Amino acid sequence: MRTRRTAGTIIAAVVGVLLAGSVAACGNSDTGGGSADDGRITLGFSQVGAESGWRTANTTSIKEAATEAGIELKFDDAQQKQENQIKAIRNFIQQKVDVIAFSPVVESGWDTVLKEARDADIPVILTDRSVDSADRSLYKTFLGSDFVKEGRLAGEWLVEQTRGASGPVNIVELQGTTGSAPANDRKEGFAKAIAANPNLKVVASQSGDFKRADGKQVMEQFLKANPKIDVLFAHNDDMGLGALEAITAAGKVPGKDITIITIDAVKDGMQALADGRFNFIAECSPLLGPQLMDLAKKVHAGEEVPARIETEETTFTQEQAKEALPNRRY
Ligand code: AHR
Repeated sequence: MRTRRTAGTIIAAVVGVLLAGSVAACGNSDTGGGSADDGRITLGFSQVGAESGWRTANTTSIKEAATEAGIELKFDDAQQKQENQIKAIRNFIQQKVDVIAFSPVVESGWDTVLKEARDADIPVILTDRSVDSADRSLYKTFLGSDFVKEGRLAGEWLVEQTRGASGPVNIVELQGTTGSAPANDRKEGFAKAIAANPNLKVVASQSGDFKRADGKQVMEQFLKANPKIDVLFAHNDDMGLGALEAITAAGKVPGKDITIITIDAVKDGMQALADGRFNFIAECSPLLGPQLMDLAKKVHAGEEVPARIETEETTFTQEQAKEALPNRRY
């Protein structure tokens, strides 16, 4: 009995040593900066989802730019759920990627997982959307748009167009995903700008989650509840495009009976603008891939990068959309 136990212990010890050796070997191949086996930088990227034309263009830009830059991309689609993004980031940490980048679906609730990445010495880049963490050491940089400015530009255009209005101008607002940076900021920028004209009133404001189907459904409700709607401000093209269907079904002419202002300037939105169904778009560029890869290389090399990098963007009227459409890339 005693002899059998000793033999078992020896076998267990040998197996243990062998296992430990193989785990260490695996760990080694993942370390050395966590690079891919061929020495390339590994970037773990957690995408929001596939909710809009903008998002699809953004995903394409990131995938193409990674290939172009020779970066190994581990791509995860969070399907618009924060818990999926947190899970993906934890997986990236476990896999010891070199750099983590993500576009946070909402602004709040990231500190714990960002601390885990910092403790693991993995630099984090925020792209497209930001977080509201007070601790700036949790991420290296933010690359994306000034969403407040986009909302402000939309509001300023409306103020200009309604200068001569003597009575109330009723506005309905289709907000983006609740709690997301673009929804919060675009709402804020727009509200500040329209405060310049007391005739401009937001009579209803609700989330359409940045999706076409939701935009249509919420616009149907707005139309039922509000007999006089003069303006629709949609936080993205897709919700505006969904709303077009609801407006037409209600017997109204989009772009004429109801002025439509959106944000993004993806091809479908630009087509609606050129056709006269939309009236104004503030651009938000999804082509962040090349700059993101450049930043990933820099933070991996330990180089200093600016704390915030903003995308250059413009606005489009119907005439400008007609001119720009033939060369639009997304
Ligand atoms: O974060 C950018 C926004 O997210 C875009 O305006 C919208 O279309 C997308 O879903």
